[in-house]
Amino acid sequence: MTGDFLAVDRITRSFGGLKAVGGDAGLSFSIGKGAFLGLIGPNGAGKSTVFNLICGVLKPNSGQVILDGTVLSDLTVSEIAARGLGRTFQTPRAFPSLSVLENVLVGADNEGEHVLAALSRRWRARDAELTEKAFDVLARVGLADRAADSVSNLSGGELRMLEVARQLIRDPRILLLDEPTAGVDPNLQRKLSALLAGLHRDGTTMIVVEHNLHFLLEIADRVVVLQSGELLAEGSPGEIKSDARVISAYLGANHAA
Ligand SMILES: Nc1ncnc2c1ncn2[C@@H]1O[C@H](COP(=O)(O)OP(=O)(O)OP(=O)(O)O)[C@@H](O)[C@H]1O
Ligand SMILES: [Mg+2]
Repeated sequence: MTGDFLAVDRITRSFGGLKAVGGDAGLSFSIGKGAFLGLIGPNGAGKSTVFNLICGVLKPNSGQVILDGTVLSDLTVSEIAARGLGRTFQTPRAFPSLSVLENVLVGADNEGEHVLAALSRRWRARDAELTEKAFDVLARVGLADRAADSVSNLSGGELRMLEVARQLIRDPRILLLDEPTAGVDPNLQRKLSALLAGLHRDGTTMIVVEHNLHFLLEIADRVVVLQSGELLAEGSPGEIKSDARVISAYLGANHAA
């Protein structure tokens, strides 16, 4: 691990006058190159908003995000993606009229959210090298035998794995996953766990948001805990598991639910 690869520097973000992230001082944390950071916190703590602020879907009201020395705050979503940032969404997004393979090929494009790009990707599907890579990525997420299927035949868990595959085809330098195990059955969860551990070994920098702490604390090497948009605790999985403030934040959230 060398220095800060990604630094979140005193960011704040409000919605309709209510501060969702950063409190008064702003939220700061950082991640070293090749590290695997778990980002946890009760519902509404601001985890997805932090991802949106990092990948450029939202702009911070103050503060900045720096990736490998570049300030991201002035860049568009696709410019940020082009710098090697990949992210999945809490609700999986797929193009329903495209096959599983085509959906992965769309992911190879930084403008992948655009239907036009999806259609041009059909042409690019003839690109043998890219197609081979798409199959390779599908194999890694356990979906190789579903390549020709319509995405409408995929289960919720399989859709989530497809989201990961769509990011992997771009060889992201840093990968942000928002609740990757939600709706994923235990069998696929084991595959996902092995996949993330493998990516970690291969040097991919990762930030993973999860409510499944058992899953996350097994594979993350550091954890940031958010509560009401502010940093509640930060440490190794062992430290976080035994942190009284963290236990109380989760118990509080469970009691409120
Ligand atoms: N686009 C938006 N407009 C208004 N309020 C928003 C918006 N996005 C998020 N919020 C609010 O910001 C706060 C943080 O939401 P966020 O979705 O980031 O939480 P989270 O930690 O990801 O929660 P969960 O675990 O339920 O996914 C919440 O109070 C939420 O209602
Ligand atoms: Mg969320």
